Amino acid sequence: MKYIIANWKANKNFLEAAEWCGVLLHNIESNSLLKTKLGTDELRIVVCPPLPFLSLVKEKLQSHFVHVGSQDISQYEKGSYTGEVTGPSLTGLAQYAIVGHSERRNNLRETNDLIQRKVDIALQYHIQPILCVRGLDDPVIANAQIIAYEPVQAIGTGKNEDIATVVSQKKQMKMGENQLFIYGGSVNEENCKEYMSHSEIHGVLVGTACLNPQQFYSTIEAAIS
Ligand code: PGA
Repeated sequence: MKYIIANWKANKNFLEAAEWCGVLLHNIESNSLLKTKLGTDELRIVVCPPLPFLSLVKEKLQSHFVHVGSQDISQYEKGSYTGEVTGPSLTGLAQYAIVGHSERRNNLRETNDLIQRKVDIALQYHIQPILCVRGLDDPVIANAQIIAYEPVQAIGTGKNEDIATVVSQKKQMKMGENQLFIYGGSVNEENCKEYMSHSEIHGVLVGTACLNPQQFYSTIEAAIS
């Protein structure tokens, strides 16, 4: 199984979110190859919208085998932590949670200890963490099954890292045998296929190119072509 994970980051309002889902649905409906791949889990699409749109996206897309992920999860289980989004509140809503994205590590000073706690709490609530690492200096947390390698210089710059470098970085990471390796950083409809068809890479994480639903669909289409 290969993954295409869409990270909307802090973009879109409610209407735009609904429209995005409508366009993706329409496109899935019109592509029988894609429908088969999603139905048989050969391809798994995970959409990570801002938290207020999780249930909207789930309602609209889950019947078409599209999965939903949160962009973060609280280190706290419950209690007096205003604004935190906890494991229990995500249970049944999100199957995945992005943890340790470089934007949170860099802007919000998330530490490796904090990220480990988030991974643990996600697993405790049966949410699959997608652990983002920026490079060899960020530890590959052993109990996270999905590792998304996202070199900072490739994020949002249009300068995707070439595949040889990505694979060589993977080889130097301390990956467990059962851990999946995802690449993220300026993935789009032009370069997606190269990553998706490589046997060492289990999928891609898409930011900018997922914001326009038609471009996201083109990226999916290119990946399965
Ligand atoms: P990008 O973002 O596709 O815009 O580079 C990827 C990410 O930050 O997850």
